[in-house]
Amino acid sequence: MKNDIGEILISEIEIKNSVSVLAQKLAVDYKNNNLTIIGVLNGSLVFLSDLIRQIPFPVKIDTIRANTYAGASTFPKAETEIIHNIDIDVKNEHVLIVDDILDTGKTLSKIIQMITKHDPLSIKVCVLLNKTARRESEIVPDYCCFEIEDKFVVGYGLDFDNRYRNLPYVAVLKDDIMITPETL
Ligand code: IMP
Ligand code: MG
Repeated sequence: MKNDIGEILISEIEIKNSVSVLAQKLAVDYKNNNLTIIGVLNGSLVFLSDLIRQIPFPVKIDTIRANTYAGASTFPKAETEIIHNIDIDVKNEHVLIVDDILDTGKTLSKIIQMITKHDPLSIKVCVLLNKTARRESEIVPDYCCFEIEDKFVVGYGLDFDNRYRNLPYVAVLKDDIMITPETL
């Protein structure tokens, strides 16, 4: 797997430190509040599991799943579909949506729309990475660990064609790995 990596953009230790700082901030901001954290599958898996274990009070956890990419593609599909919705009743809850990356914003806009229908007390967005270059909606993350430039990255939950989520850092793949029939 290491042979496929072009450049490490964010190291394991940088991620660890930033996630700790973020968890401390959330601990202050949501103190004395009912907090439900909703992870966006599959990309948020690693970030979510590290983050929630550093929050010092009981939170409810649920997941939602959206489909933005078709197979081995680095370009989002025209329409984002919600393919698995939340089960928890969030009516008296403050909701924090956690995702791996905010890119065009299509996925999180659709998810915010969907969760708004469940009438929570508040909705905020927390992402590991913010990539503003391809943004199509006006969404701005309330919490974000790193700003990144317009590169397709993998690792720490982020995938290319469902691989590389298990890398402990965020990296760019070598060019020849990203060449597939769909990206040509
Ligand atoms: P958006 O809807 O364009 O904001 O994209 C959000 C989703 O696209 C994220 O949850 C990721 O799963 C995926 N995505 C966007 N950029 C990247 C990237 O650089 N690497 C891997 N996945 C990405
Ligand atoms: Mg995702």
